[in-house]
Amino acid sequence: MMSELGLTYVRIAEFAWSRIEPRDGEFQFEWLDNAVETLANAGLSVVMCTPTATPPKWLVDKFPEILPVDPDTGRTRGFGSRRHYDFSSDVYFDEAMRITELMAKRYGKHDAIVGWQTDNEICCHNTNLSASDVARSAFQQWCSLRYASIDALNDAWGNVFWSMEYQNFSAIELPVGAVTETNPAHRLAYRRFSSEKVCHFNDSMTKLIRAYAPGKFVTHNFMPMTYTGVDNYSLAAPLDFSSHDSYPLGRVDQQLKNSSAEELRKYMRTGHPDASAYSHDQTRGFSKDPFWVMEQQPGPVNWADNNARPAPGMIRLWTLEAFAHGAGCVSYFRWRQALFGQEQMHAGLLRQDNSKSAAWPEVEEAIADVAKLSLLDETKQQADVAMITAAESVWVSAIERQSESYEFANIEFDYYHALRSLGVSVDFVNPDSDLSGYKLVIAPGLPIIGDALIKKFKASDASFIFGPRSGAKTSEFSFPGNLPPGELQQIAPLRVLSIETLRPDCIEGLCWNGKRYESLIWREELEVIDGDVLAQYDDGLPAVVRCGSLSYIGTLTDTLFLKDFFRMNCQELGIETNEFGIDLRIIRRGNLMFAFNYSEQKQDLPLDKGAQILLGSRSIKPHDVTVWKRN
Ligand code: GAL
Repeated sequence: MMSELGLTYVRIAEFAWSRIEPRDGEFQFEWLDNAVETLANAGLSVVMCTPTATPPKWLVDKFPEILPVDPDTGRTRGFGSRRHYDFSSDVYFDEAMRITELMAKRYGKHDAIVGWQTDNEICCHNTNLSASDVARSAFQQWCSLRYASIDALNDAWGNVFWSMEYQNFSAIELPVGAVTETNPAHRLAYRRFSSEKVCHFNDSMTKLIRAYAPGKFVTHNFMPMTYTGVDNYSLAAPLDFSSHDSYPLGRVDQQLKNSSAEELRKYMRTGHPDASAYSHDQTRGFSKDPFWVMEQQPGPVNWADNNARPAPGMIRLWTLEAFAHGAGCVSYFRWRQALFGQEQMHAGLLRQDNSKSAAWPEVEEAIADVAKLSLLDETKQQADVAMITAAESVWVSAIERQSESYEFANIEFDYYHALRSLGVSVDFVNPDSDLSGYKLVIAPGLPIIGDALIKKFKASDASFIFGPRSGAKTSEFSFPGNLPPGELQQIAPLRVLSIETLRPDCIEGLCWNGKRYESLIWREELEVIDGDVLAQYDDGLPAVVRCGSLSYIGTLTDTLFLKDFFRMNCQELGIETNEFGIDLRIIRRGNLMFAFNYSEQKQDLPLDKGAQILLGSRSIKPHDVTVWKRN
């Protein structure tokens, strides 16, 4: 049935440890051999996974110290679901590498197995941090390597405050379980350490697979949009390409949790028009080759608060949208809805009785569409606009909230949403990326900006837009002595004199070009040393400043301001915008233009003269796709 549908790849075994090794050292590979042969005989290619997300019961009983400890509650996270292992456990590390090596040895050179997935959604279910004893001693060791002397650590963290000073590395605690707030520098170090542990696990596994599976790809299925606590750019570094898992309806239910029913209703069966694209673009940013969607939602999921059915057409739309944003493959999770276990309520391409679900004909159509477009021939093309993202931006805002509503992920998404609703293509980059070729570089919030990055900014021909809180912290989470934006003052001569945060519904004004917008949540008092004031707060003080080709926005704003401001910047810089329709999104891949209609309405596309329509029509139906080649 998989071949009949036209699938190419089948991913297997990601949670199969208890069947591969039912008892310590006793292996049963025959069933897996059969599965691989069956798929191969049907002409399918296999993506084999290491089963390390689910250590079996006997292993947990033998080594209970592999279980992680929840940093919030101090409770051990036990056996009974998945991801019950501690990244700091050397014992688990050895076990995970042992099973990986056995599998890689057995299947590494099998013709039908074209590639590998490491583990599964590393750090899902908040498993990046653990407060176990092994984590504490690993953290102490990490600290001694990073800071070399305990005085240097005390100094870097500012431990004189509240008598936090340590006398030696072995006395260092994890920043958990204290009476009130722990030192933010300590918490940032804990996050950095934890992320490095996760990357080390994935790096080692990748190397091991490569040793036995020459020529086969190694990937991992990320969860970029939820920011799992690991630095995605580092995690992606050893992989051939990155993959991500796409669940637009589960996400929209979470994203619009506090919105009105009317707002949610608009998107509850389609997902937010920018949410899938956001994950695609983020993943493309840290992926070397075309990224994959390793799991695409094919119907209602089981894990959101409410789990709606996709509107007819959406499975096909999501699939084509992924390719339009540069995907090399879209794979669906799951093949068949399970009769048993935790995810019984999660839809598949087949129902529980093997009959075809509503997704089937849509996938069939999407496969035919992709074949027609011969998409992979279309070269990847650099966008004009880059958005700088960094794991540390998420960590800083999670550690020092200052406002309950200051959430980096929402801020970044809002900036992205404003750009995408203008039809602007966006590449994600990180502080280590090459910025050449970009006309406009936008940092919604980049609190830690070091000297190397300033040099890169100075050398770049791009224009820059920085959001509030940029340059606001040193690498050890203290204020820069010259006030924020710290090092950024070299190119943005202004100082942040004070910061206030307000409840999100206590909105103040922002005046730009004679129009009133909203200033909300985070508001900086700016002193302009050299630059033009573009927008002002209600009291006439500067809110948005331009210094040469750099703009600094000192407050969070409504989306309308971002759209108008970005539109002006794009016009000034000759950056193409494609702004029309309602919930209609336009994106370019190579020579092809794609339109995705997320709305309930039929809409007309203002195509250029001579545009050659390859798919769909000029008048685009609800939840439909049109693809054309430009004249
Ligand atoms: C992903 C995971 C899958 C499955 C799916 C359900 O997080 O990788 O194993 O749980 O979500 O939507």
